[in-house]
Order: sequence, then C-alpha cells, then structure tokens
Amino acid sequence: MLHSLSKFAQACLVFALSTIGHASAIDTVRGADHACAQCHKGIYRSYIETTMANASGPAINAAVPGAFTQASSGITYRIKIENGNVLLTYKRAGNPSLSGQYRLQYFFGSGRQGTSFIYSRDDYLFEAPLSYYAAKSSYDLRPGYLQAKEMPSALPLNSQCLICHMSGVRKEDSGTVNHYSGPPFLHGGITCEACHGDTTAHVLHHGKGGLLVLSKLGPLERDSICLRCHLESETSVARRGKSLLDFKSGDRLSDDVSYFIYTGEQGSTGRAVSQVEALAMSECKRSSGGRMSCTTCHDPHSTPAPSERSSYYRAKCLACHSQPLFASSHYSNVPDCTICHMPKSSTSDIPHAQVTDHRILRTQQEGEHAPEAQPADHDRTLMPVPGIGERPSVRSFGLAFYKVGLKGDPDAMKNAWDLLQKALQGNPNDSEVLSALGFIARLRGDVTQSAEFLEKGYQVDPANVYVANDVGVLLASSGKLNQAEIVWKELFARNQDLVDLGDNLALLQCQLGEKSAASETLQRVLQFSPDHQATRQLLARIQSGDKRCISSNASHGEIPAPTENHVQ
Ligand code: HEC
Ligand code: HEC
Ligand code: HEC
Ligand code: HEC
Ligand code: HEC
Ligand code: HEC
Ligand code: HEC
Repeated sequence: MLHSLSKFAQACLVFALSTIGHASAIDTVRGADHACAQCHKGIYRSYIETTMANASGPAINAAVPGAFTQASSGITYRIKIENGNVLLTYKRAGNPSLSGQYRLQYFFGSGRQGTSFIYSRDDYLFEAPLSYYAAKSSYDLRPGYLQAKEMPSALPLNSQCLICHMSGVRKEDSGTVNHYSGPPFLHGGITCEACHGDTTAHVLHHGKGGLLVLSKLGPLERDSICLRCHLESETSVARRGKSLLDFKSGDRLSDDVSYFIYTGEQGSTGRAVSQVEALAMSECKRSSGGRMSCTTCHDPHSTPAPSERSSYYRAKCLACHSQPLFASSHYSNVPDCTICHMPKSSTSDIPHAQVTDHRILRTQQEGEHAPEAQPADHDRTLMPVPGIGERPSVRSFGLAFYKVGLKGDPDAMKNAWDLLQKALQGNPNDSEVLSALGFIARLRGDVTQSAEFLEKGYQVDPANVYVANDVGVLLASSGKLNQAEIVWKELFARNQDLVDLGDNLALLQCQLGEKSAASETLQRVLQFSPDHQATRQLLARIQSGDKRCISSNASHGEIPAPTENHVQ
C-alpha cells in the first residue's frame, strides 16, 4: 500500500498564475558580464552568441507559441504568450476533465537539440512536462511520457539539475528536494565567472590581476573546468559533505565528485556517451596525454561561423598532424578532416550525449567493431573514469554500486553492501551510507538490521529526505502507524509537492481514521499534480465515505531511490 518516492525523478506539472515565484528578476550573461565588455569587447561579443551563454534564461527569450494534443491522455497543451508572460495551458474535455495553466519562468537548453522549461509554485521548482524539439520544430511531452494516459505529475527540480545550465546556482532548502526560499540561481546562461572564478578584485582594480590564470593550471585542474559540466559517466558520487555546488575553477573535480563507468563499457559507445569519455578513447588523446584538452580544439569564447568551420578544425588537426602528407595529399579533395574522422551521428537527439564522434577513429568501420552496448556480465563492475584524478574512496565506490543497483543491476547491490559496511567503520555517522545500507538490508530481507541503519541515519541527519521517508515506510509496515504518521507529516510539511509521499501519508491518515486530514493531504498533492489518478481516486473514495483505505497505485512499499540528476 506504500508507494515509492523513486518517482521523484520522473514525476511532472502545474502552475497557478496567482502564485508569484522568485523568477523574473534573473539576469542573463549579457547583463551579468556587461562589466567585462568595457575592456574585453571582442570576447564578450562573441561569447554572448555561444550556446553556453544561452544555455538558460527567462522563458520569454526562448518560447514560441504552439499547441498539440496528446492522443493517449486526450490532453491539449498550449504555449501562449500574453503580456510578456509565457503560459502553458492544459485542458481535457470529458471525464475525468482537467484544465489549468502554469506560467513558465525559465528555459534551459539553447535549442540545438531542444529546450525545456521551468515553473515554480509556492517556491517549489519544477520542470515543465513538455519540451520543444528542434528536430520536429514542435512541442511534445518530455521523453518517458509520450504514451502517458494522464498528465505527468509535478517533476521536482533540485539544484543538481540546474548546476550546468545556470550560474550562481543555490542549494535547495535543507530537508527538501526542490524548495527554494530565495532565487534558485542568479544568472541565466554560463557567465564568465563560471569558468574564471571570482572576478570582483579584477574589475575593482581595473584589470590588474585579481584573477585565476587558467592557462597556467595543471592538466587536471584545467580539464576540471570543462569536465564538471561535460562529463556524464554511468554514475557519479559526491564526496561526503560535498557536491558539484562546491566546485570552483582551479579546483580538482575529483576532490568533490567521483565518476564511474562499467569496466566492459570502456571503448564502447553503447550507452550514449559524453564528449569527454569519447575523447579519452581517442588515439589522439591517449598519445598526447595532458597536452590535449577540450580547448585544443574549442575556444570557449566563440563558435566558428559555418563558413569557417571546416578550415578552423582542419588547422587544429594539422597543428599536431604536421607531416606534409596530411596538409597536401591525404584525401585532399575533402578539406574537412572531421567528415571522415569525427562524423556526426544522424540519430542522436538525446541531450547529454555527443553528436559529433569524439573518438576520432581511423575509419568508421573500426568504430562499428567496438564492444557491444551491453557489456557481458563479468564486465559489470565499476571503475573510475580514467585520467581525471585520484582513485575514489571505498565509500564512493560503495555508493556508486548502490546507485547502479537502484537502476536495476542486482549484482551491484552485493558489492555495495560489502563496500559500504567497510566505509561505515571509518564514519559511523554517515547518513548517506546508513540510508543505503538500510535499503539493502531490507532487500536482503533483514528488517531488524534495516531498522538499525535507518534509525541511526535519521538520528544523525533528520533532514535527509530519503532516510526520513524510509523510516516512515519501516514504521508503517511494522504496524507503528502513529509513529510513521509523525515522521511523514513532518517530511510532507517540507515537501508538499512529492506525490508518492503525500499519497502514502494520506493512506496512513485514512487508516488511522483521520479522514479529513487525509483529504487535506490529497487536495494539497492535487494542487501540484492535478491529474494524478491514484490520488484523485483515493480522494473520491474517502469523500464518498468508503471505509476501505486502499489505493490503486501498484508500487507497494518500495523504498525510494535518490533523485538522478541527469535526464536522457
Ligand atoms: C557551467 C557548466 C559548463 C562549463 C563549465 C563548460 N560548459 Fe560547455 N556547455 C555547457 C552547456 C550546458 C552546453 C550546452 C548549452 C545548450 O545547448 O543549451 C555547453 C556547450 C558547449 C559546446 C557546444 C558549443 C556549440 O557550438 O554548440 C562546446 C564546444 C563546449 N560547451 C565546450 C566547453 C569547454 C571547452 C569548456 C571548458 C573550457 C566548457 N564547455 C565548460 C556547460 C558548460
Ligand atoms: C553535469 C552537467 C549537466 C547537468 C546536471 C544537466 N545538464 Fe543538460 N546539458 C549539459 C551539457 C554539457 C549539454 C550540451 C551537451 C551536448 O551538446 O553534447 C546539455 C544539454 C541539454 C539540453 C539540450 C540543449 C540543446 O541546446 O539542445 C537539454 C534540454 C538539457 N540539457 C536539459 C537538462 C535537464 C532537464 C537537466 C536536469 C534534469 C539537465 N539538463 C542537467 C550538461 C548538464
Ligand atoms: C566555458 C569556460 C569559459 C567561459 C564561460 C569564459 N572563459 Fe575566458 N577563458 C577560458 C579558458 C579555458 C581560458 C584560457 C584559454 C587557454 O587555454 O589559453 C580563457 C581565457 C580568457 C582570457 C585570456 C586569454 C584571451 O583569450 O585573451 C580572457 C581575457 C577571458 N578568458 C575573458 C573572458 C570573458 C570576458 C568571459 C565572459 C564574457 C569569458 N572569458 C568566459 C574559459 C572561459
Ligand atoms: C577596466 C578594464 C577591465 C575590466 C572591466 C575587466 N578586465 Fe579582464 N583584463 C583587463 C586587462 C588590462 C587584462 C590583462 C592583464 C594582464 O595582462 O596582466 C585583463 C585580463 C583578463 C584575463 C586574463 C587573465 C590571465 O592572465 O589569463 C581574464 C580571464 C579576464 N581579464 C577576465 C575578465 C572578466 C571575466 C571580466 C568581467 C567580470 C573582466 N576581465 C573585466 C582589463 C579588464
Ligand atoms: C594534440 C595533438 C593532436 C590533435 C589536435 C589531433 N591529433 Fe590526431 N593524433 C595525435 C596523436 C599523437 C596520434 C597518435 C598517432 C600519431 O602520432 O599519428 C593521433 C592519431 C590520430 C589518428 C589515428 C587514429 C588511430 O586509431 O590510429 C587519426 C585518424 C587522427 N589522429 C585524426 C585527427 C584529426 C582528424 C584531428 C582533428 C580533428 C586530430 N587528429 C587532432 C595527436 C593529435
Ligand atoms: C580534436 C578536436 C576536438 C577536441 C579535442 C574536442 N572537440 Fe568537441 N567538437 C569537435 C568538433 C569538430 C565538433 C563539431 C563542431 C561542429 O560541427 O560545428 C565538436 C563538437 C562539440 C560539441 C557540440 C555537440 C556535438 O557533439 O557535436 C560539444 C558539446 C563538444 N564538442 C565538447 C567537447 C568537450 C567537452 C571536449 C573535451 C573533452 C571536446 N569537445 C574536445 C572537435 C573537438
Ligand atoms: C575522405 C575521408 C578522409 C578525410 C577527409 C581525411 N581522412 Fe584521414 N584517414 C582516412 C582513412 C580512410 C584513413 C585510414 C588509412 C588511409 O586510408 O590512409 C585515414 C587515416 C588517417 C590518419 C592515421 C594515419 C595512419 O598512418 O594510420 C590520420 C592521422 C589522419 N587520417 C588524419 C587526417 C587529417 C589531419 C585530415 C584532415 C587534414 C584527414 N585525416 C582527412 C580518411 C580521411
């Protein structure tokens, strides 16, 4: 009867116009970095045209009017622009009927592949359920919801999702998934400071010093600047008490976060990989080591114009491949080296995967013989992404196995169990480790041990949303309904937009005979996720005086998975 919170990451939608978010006052790179234009006019002008400078901003800068009807749900979605506001309306005639609207506040994605939108309600931040798809030049629902029968429930956005598309990103309020008492970020797009660090002293002293000199950094620190946003990997784990929000230019990425891939995946492009991983496989990079980086070919301040693209990249190749052969006779009828060695995939419309093949293969046939998408079972062990810093800790390895375990790799949980027990010996108060161990213990059927881990985790960090939810699940499933209600009520007070949490709490309240409290909880859930059928049905049942407290939601008692940051 208890539902998992694991749908945090998939959930989606609704905004009432009356609710005023923090939104509007955000600045884009144009404004934020205007001070630099005084003295660095050329760089400023070219930079503001790049996709990085336009990676996000006010919704009005990117939205175009449009509409579509989703056949499976019968809902018509419409984007319209009124008095400078971007409105998303939704409407379904018939039973169950539905209608409403949100004001979209921000966009993210410069639009090369697509654009997503953000709205907020009561200071909770959400991703809109639809995106604009460049390939189709039209709107459609987010991937994963294309066949949905109901409007997706609200999709919470945490700071980890904003961190690569926005600048000056703030952490969500403690104990919440996506509630921000202040602005969630300061600037749309990626500002100069995102790479150059704090420039206050530099501007104050009219350009005399006061800056981190990026070209003098060591290879790991230099590469970290691009990698923190361009490395996807299979899974990543922040060091204890750290997150990507702590990263500053000049730091080593591996001091904050560790990145993992499957051993058998090395050299394959089965999973959609990022440019970083692909380049690492190239003979160019492997033979050049630290001499080669993203900036060997890319000027972070500008994108070559289409007419210069071919000669621009050719010059980059020839700078290393300086043998006269390449400049003169090697396929000289095709001046663009990248056509053969770095072709574009025709099918890739997945955000966060490379379009251009950064493996720089000799011939594409060699690429086709690369290992298959699904590595053999014996290769499903994790290794750190090579070449980006120190070896991850036992804790990071353990949590990485746990995270891939949650994605459905059963063997991974065995590794996670052993590694995390070891990690716990070093730090008995590590709530993330305790939370993971509590989950795995339950999977192993040991409820007592699971309770020990979770209760300890809750004690040391009551703000940990996942631990608190799991403690509630544990109490409820062992019949301690009153105690479970206390824990969930407190959690729900801070996270009123979490559908599964709200449904769980309402069921519990129903079972305890608190019908009006249960109704209130469900009504609150429906303000965020108005078309969530399980919630609607439960509410209707309670209001009709039905004594049975049951829900049609089928995901019995699963324990929640932490939010995955990356969308596919
Ligand atoms: C704060 C995060 C962040 C950092 C740091 C960052 N990037 Fe980006 N970069 C992005 C995002 C996000 C996009 C995609 C923007 C979009 O299309 O919406 C992007 C796009 C790009 C593109 C595609 C440009 C085009 O013409 O379409 C290149 C090339 C690139 N980045 C290179 C780099 C390099 C080189 C560095 C390091 C010097 C770097 N990036 C650092 C986030 C970042
Ligand atoms: C680790 C950094 C990172 C995080 C976190 C991240 N993105 Fe991205 N995103 C990127 C980069 C880099 C690109 C450009 C990649 C490329 O073109 O190869 C991108 C591209 C996109 C695009 C396509 C943009 C275009 O111009 O076509 C969309 C849409 C997008 N991201 C949405 C999201 C959403 C939604 C989230 C959170 C759930 C998210 N991103 C989290 C780094 C990130
Ligand atoms: C995506 C990361 C990134 C962003 C954003 C960025 N830079 Fe840079 N910038 C670099 C890197 C990396 C270097 C060092 C280049 C190298 O490797 O030599 C650099 C070098 C410079 C230099 C010195 C070398 C030169 O080319 O004159 C100036 C000046 C500069 N940047 C100004 C700016 C300004 C102004 C902005 C914003 C309008 C900006 N940068 C935005 C990454 C970035
Ligand atoms: C009043 C003029 C002025 C302003 C405003 C200014 N700069 Fe500079 N900047 C300079 C000068 C002059 C240099 C060259 C300093 C040197 O060579 O020692 C410089 C150098 C740099 C460098 C290269 C540092 C290095 O040694 O690699 C970067 C990066 C840079 N500026 C970024 C910025 C950014 C970002 C801003 C806006 C936040 C900005 N600057 C605003 C005058 C200015
Ligand atoms: C930083 C230097 C550097 C740059 C830039 C560079 N390469 Fe390379 N590349 C190398 C080195 C070193 C090798 C190893 C073999 C050799 O020396 O030719 C290599 C190997 C290759 C190979 C053979 C691959 C194989 O699997 O045998 C190809 C093809 C290639 N490069 C194409 C290119 C193209 C095309 C570009 C431009 C888009 C490029 N390279 C840019 C350094 C570079
Ligand atoms: C050997 C040259 C070379 C190196 C090194 C290189 N790139 Fe690229 N990159 C390219 C070319 C060529 C394109 C295609 C550009 C175009 O079509 O306009 C590209 C495109 C991109 C794009 C746009 C999306 C796509 O896949 O087409 C991103 C993002 C990007 N590179 C990021 C990176 C990052 C991050 C690094 C460092 C890990 C890197 N690149 C290193 C040559 C390079
Ligand atoms: C029309 C397709 C095509 C173009 C354009 C092309 N190459 Fe190649 N390249 C190949 C093929 C095919 C091979 C495999 C060996 C051969 O046929 O020469 C190759 C091999 C190579 C190698 C490996 C050489 C070796 O001895 O193994 C390098 C390095 C290379 N190319 C660099 C470049 C550079 C740099 C450019 C641009 C100046 C370029 N290629 C343009 C098709 C191309």
